Amino acid sequence: MRARQATFAISSVSPDTFPPETAPEIAFTGRSNVGKSSLINSLVGVRGLARTSGTPGRTQMLNWFAVTPPFGPDHLAFVDFPGYGYAKVPTAVRAAFGPLVDAYLENRRGLRLVIVILDARRGAEEDERLYVDWLAEHSRPTLVVLTKVDKLSKSKRIPAQSAARAALGLARAPLLYSAETGEGVKELWRAIVQAV
Ligand code: GTP
Ligand code: MG
Repeated sequence: MRARQATFAISSVSPDTFPPETAPEIAFTGRSNVGKSSLINSLVGVRGLARTSGTPGRTQMLNWFAVTPPFGPDHLAFVDFPGYGYAKVPTAVRAAFGPLVDAYLENRRGLRLVIVILDARRGAEEDERLYVDWLAEHSRPTLVVLTKVDKLSKSKRIPAQSAARAALGLARAPLLYSAETGEGVKELWRAIVQAV
């Protein structure tokens, strides 16, 4: 299952250059190098659409993609986020997220769903809990995804899912995903279309 259409739209390094809100938006967020851009590529089925790298910090701007999902609405915008730099996070998300990301998450009216992507091997830490709480305080619908599940042995999958759910106090279990194997693609599309 892949997008009917997916094209790069625009990069933005400052809130005054955010594009006009012409379609419901889905934000792909998470720690540096967790696999945000790879997740977008595997979901839409276009290799290399979003730039990926083994080196953390590849994505440094907000990148917009115009996407037509495999079913449902004709027009969505996917927004690929820079990874949050945990190294210099003294407190919560405000400090972690630059003003760019902050401005987007607080004010973007067309934002329908914030996807919070975690490495299935690493799970949720304090920073993620603060971030997910912050999104809830700002009434942002959130979906937590554990990616790179191809790196987990069978016996570790359910425990990882339960641990992340408990750590983040989620009503629903996080979705298991792999950009390598395509696991979770159908479920993620369903969740996205449902949110818009
Ligand atoms: P930044 O933009 O730098 O924050 O990174 P990102 O979160 O966009 O991560 P990116 O998609 O660039 O992937 C980082 C590394 O993880 C790359 O080496 C990918 O090949 C690898 N990777 C991403 N998703 C998966 C996955 O599902 N399984 C496996 N095994 N590797 C993955
Ligand atoms: Mg990236």
